[in-house]
Amino acid sequence: MNVLVTGGAGYIGSHTCVELIEAGHTPIVVDNLCNSSAKSLDRVKTITGKQIMFYEGDVRDEALLEKIFMENELDCVIHFAGLKAVGESVAIPLSYYDNNLCSTMTLCRVMAKHGVKKIVFSSSATVYSGDNEMPLKETSKTGNCTNPYGWTKYMCEQILRDIAKADAQWSVVLLRYFNPVGAHASGMIGEHPNGIPNNLMPFISQTAIGKREKLSVFGNDYDTHDGTGVRDYIHVVDLAKGHVAAIGYAEGNKGEAVFNLGTGTGYSVLDMVKAFETANEIKVPYVIAPRRPGDLATCYADPAKSREVLGWQATLDQTDMCRDTWHWQSKNPNGYDD
Ligand code: NAD
Ligand code: WQD
Repeated sequence: MNVLVTGGAGYIGSHTCVELIEAGHTPIVVDNLCNSSAKSLDRVKTITGKQIMFYEGDVRDEALLEKIFMENELDCVIHFAGLKAVGESVAIPLSYYDNNLCSTMTLCRVMAKHGVKKIVFSSSATVYSGDNEMPLKETSKTGNCTNPYGWTKYMCEQILRDIAKADAQWSVVLLRYFNPVGAHASGMIGEHPNGIPNNLMPFISQTAIGKREKLSVFGNDYDTHDGTGVRDYIHVVDLAKGHVAAIGYAEGNKGEAVFNLGTGTGYSVLDMVKAFETANEIKVPYVIAPRRPGDLATCYADPAKSREVLGWQATLDQTDMCRDTWHWQSKNPNGYDD
């Protein structure tokens, strides 16, 4: 299939381009590079041997989307483009609502006009309400989001659900990611956050390489096996493969469907630190710090529906996640800036 990949130069998008190509699909990327580098796509070419058609620009730019849809026979869209920093979304909510909602609406308008009615959307476990039992099922309660970023995902899900309800030709697949980590085994593509990382794994790897003095472990008095927060970390290559399964599902099914993309296993912060140290034979200095506001003690997926309906499940383990994160970090200490 010819797949428009919005945000395809980013962390998850670039890994998904590799998996799409390896599965015989043709990705076409649109990205404004606000949080990425086009070098990621050059690296995808080195990995796969395939040059990707790339349009640099904003998904909110309707004229640009028109041009892309005119120039390509598209079959479906994977919509990654969006802003994703939770703390920043609290500081600049309008930018988040504008970027994440307007990009989705502009994209769907142009898709409908051109009769391309299959979309896979990057949602997040953050749409689940904090008062659910674990593990989280697709039927668990959503809402009560704790930040504007989470609300943008919640609202985009609703917009897409309404589009599928209004026009039976649409196929809408909402993928709720848990905690994506790791990098391609080649060490050529990976995650390179701007500034101080918010997320645990990039903070661990930047500490290991000496860019950060020590990791602050946010709270050790949670009701978990060692008192630190428990999450469902998923290797980005497994996550990327979930998108290949999702476009296959969209090809054969109409209406709206939602899937968790997680492993179903929760690891604590200290589990991840220890696994990283063991896998890579390197120390990660840390201190115990106060809890981070808004954090839950525990969050992990029930991935049964994805396994049964999409035929997808994660295959890479915690050691793979830690080894591949370090391989990327140590080969590219400054991300794509080298
Ligand atoms: P990323 O920032 O690496 O990738 C997003 C890409 O979208 C970037 O390349 C950025 O330049 C581009 N972009 C942003 N706004 C754009 C716009 N208006 N027009 C064109 N391009 C635009 O982030 P990622 O980690 O790869 O995340 C991809 C998607 O998955 C996002 O929607 C994110 O919210 C969602 N998600 C990520 C995580 C995570 O922890 N990484 C978890 C759940 C959901
Ligand atoms: C994981 C654990 C922290 C950093 C976020 C978003 C979510 C989704 C994925 C997009 C927690 C602890 C972290 C540090 C720490 N993104 N931690 N020290 O918060 O589960 O999810 O990213 O959709 O929406 O909220 O991920 O990696 O920030 O934290 O102790 O320096 O690591 O308290 O227990 P989180 P995270």
